[in-house]
Order: sequence, then C-alpha cells, then structure tokens
Amino acid sequence: MDVLSGTTMNFELTEEQLAVQAAARDFAQNVLKPGVIERDREQRFPKDEIKQLGELGFLGMMVSPEYGGGGMDTVSYVLAMEEISKVDASCSVVMSVNNSLVCWGLETFGNEEQKRKYLVPLAKGERIGAFCLSEPEAGSDATSQRTTAIDMGDHYLLNGTKNWITNGGTASTYLVMAQTDVAKGHKGINCLIVEKGMPGFTVGAKEDKLGIRGSDTHTLMFQDVKVPKANRIGEDGFGFKFAMKTLSGGRIGIAAQALGIASGAYELALAYSKERSAFGKPIHQHQAIAFKLADMATEIEAARLLCLKAAWLKDTHGNYEIAGSMAKLLASEVAMRTTVEAVQVHGGYGYVKEYHVERLMRDAKITQIYEGTSEVQRIVIGRSVIG
Ligand code: CAA
Repeated sequence: MDVLSGTTMNFELTEEQLAVQAAARDFAQNVLKPGVIERDREQRFPKDEIKQLGELGFLGMMVSPEYGGGGMDTVSYVLAMEEISKVDASCSVVMSVNNSLVCWGLETFGNEEQKRKYLVPLAKGERIGAFCLSEPEAGSDATSQRTTAIDMGDHYLLNGTKNWITNGGTASTYLVMAQTDVAKGHKGINCLIVEKGMPGFTVGAKEDKLGIRGSDTHTLMFQDVKVPKANRIGEDGFGFKFAMKTLSGGRIGIAAQALGIASGAYELALAYSKERSAFGKPIHQHQAIAFKLADMATEIEAARLLCLKAAWLKDTHGNYEIAGSMAKLLASEVAMRTTVEAVQVHGGYGYVKEYHVERLMRDAKITQIYEGTSEVQRIVIGRSVIG
C-alpha cells in the first residue's frame, strides 16, 4: 500500500491557515520568548502562558465549536505547533497532548455526556488533560499494561502506576489505559477518564529532565481508585485501540514540534552567521557554514512537507497513520541533526544558555522518544512497507 501516492497536490495555504500561523508566531516571539530561558533553568511550568494560549483558542484548536473548540484543521494545528515550538517546546508539548491526544480522543470516541462534561472545558483551555499509557514496564511494548481496572458492577477499581506523564501535575482530566481482563490481552484493556482528586489517586514528584524542562512530567499512582463505569471510553475492551488510534494523530503533533525545534535552531544559526565575522568576512560566506545551512534548510523543508502531508491526509480522511509515523521519524531526526549543527555554527556562544540553541538541542532529543520512539515508528512504517 502506497499511502503517499495518488493524491492531488496543492501547496497553497488558505488565508485562515496563514492567519493562524501568524498569530502563533506573534505569541511565540512576543509572549513566550522573553521568559523561556528562565523557565527552562528553573523547570517552571509556563502556567500564565498556557492560560493565554487557551484564551487564544490554541488548546482545543481542532475541536468543533459545538464543544468549545476552534474548529480548525490539522494543517493549521501543524503550522501553529511549528511556530510555538521554535521558541518553547515545553509549552508546545502541553498544547500537543491537550489537542491531539486528549481532546481528539474524547471528541472522536467519547459519548455526548463525556464530551459535555470533560471535552468542553479542555477545548476552552479552562482545564488541561493528560494521556496515561506508559508504565514502568510498558513503554514501547504498550500492550503489556500492568495497571488494572477491575469491573465492580457500577464502577472500576483502578490500581497501578503510570510514568512519564506529560501534564501529570497540572492536568485535571486524565485518560488512563488499564487492563480489565488479562486473559483477553490487549482486547481486555479499557480507557477510563480519571479526575484529579478522586480518592486513591496521587501524583509523584516532577521529573528532572534533560529538555522540555518547563513541562510537567510525573509518575501517577492509583490505589483502589473508584472510577464510575460512565467514565469508560467506548465499548468494553476498546482501550488499546483507542490509545493506538489517538497516538496515530498525536504523532503528527510531535512531528510538528520537532519541525519547529529544527526550524527555530536553523533561523537562529542563519541570523548568527550573518552577524558573526571570522577570517575577514561574515561566517555564512565561508563554505563550511554555508553548506551546513543548505543541509539544514533542505532537511527542514522535507520534514515540513511530510508533516503537512500527514495533516492534510487526516483532514481529508485519508490514511494518515503511516504518513504521521514517517513525519515523526524524519522530523525528530532532523531536529537532532539541525540543533547540533546550530550549536556548532554558534561556536562557544552556542554552548551557553543566552543564545537559545543549546536548549533547542536538549529539547530535540525527546521528540525521538515520546509518543513512540523512532524504533516504534520504524515498526509501524516497516509493517506497512513490507506488508
Ligand atoms: N490504529 C488502530 N488499531 C491499531 C493501530 C492503529 N494505529 N495500531 C495497532 N492497532 C491494533 C492492531 O490492529 C491490533 O488489533 P487486532 O489484534 O484486533 O488486530 C492491536 O492494536 C495490537 O496491535 P499490534 O499487534 O500491532 O501490537 P504490538 O504489540 O505489536 O505493538 C506498537 C505495536 C506499534 C509497537 C505499539 O505498541 C506502539 O505504538 N507502542 C508505542 C506506544 C507509545 O507510543 N507510547 C507513547 C506514550 S504516550 C506519550 O508519550 C504522550 C506524552 O505524554 C507526550
């Protein structure tokens, strides 16, 4: 199956998409940039900035206006994610998880009552959501869920531990995957909507991370948490499929994040190469630097095209799973290569915080790990290619 052929090509963005891109760029450059170095140093969650992002409609961009969202397409979401991620990937991961994992999952698979109760405040940015699949022994091997949700009639009894949970401390609404019937394997997994404050639910310490240090990553513990049956998403046993389908779209968001980290680093390197002189001329006039810039620009454009292609397939109800994995695989590798080279272009200045590129280099690494490692993307793509 060749999912990337046989489609009409139109590379023009609409007026609306361009307006979303401009608004995101303005917010990133004027609101996010001034404090981003301090937030990274202090591992401080961008609370006020996320609140503003919600008020601007960026936390529920693709949700239908009926449920409090912006009703925008995935292409607009990719454009906005790129602009926000150029400056602050700690902020864009909150946006990505809320939009494409939590809101999309609830809107697509939740029932009317769940949408009214949980989706509306999430889409309006009044609350933040978290997606809880990873466990101490279930990362890439996501079917091996140890967290259990025992069926008690009118409720489930939830027990277990989730880790690496983005928005773990700041979220109010958690989508938690748990095993109800071990004998059924992945077909015995359910997704439950868990609220902060439910008795038996505790949030562990914040992780001290290499990158995206402002984002809020925690281990979550569930001990005999009573979750009403009404909080199960979909039919009994739908939880694993729910997680996989949701992650397929989520990967487009992380691909766009990686793209933004790469293009942010490239723009800084390009500007610096025009300001800095060595051996009697601006360094971009030395082929050693010009070739690096040419490679960065080429790879970023390829990654951008894949991101937009995956987004466009999602918007036009095409098969976006493989395109999303390809976009994430390529964009995250481009983010690593570009940020390392951007530090090199800056020389010693690139190694200090003031010039931003060392942070982008640290932030880039996570895009090869979360929402499926590069190896997981290769599994997904490889299965499709091999058949
Ligand atoms: N859509 C729908 N169904 C899917 C699917 C998809 N994209 N992918 C798999 N499935 C279905 C399969 O069809 C299969 O169903 P049947 O048995 O009915 O046919 C079932 O799910 C099991 O699939 P596999 O046999 O392919 O499962 P596997 O054990 O071989 O694993 C995998 C496949 C791709 C490696 C998968 O486990 C995976 O994606 N792992 C990575 C998990 C991940 O991305 N974790 C990130 C955590 S979330 C996060 O990071 C968020 C954050 O905070 C930033």
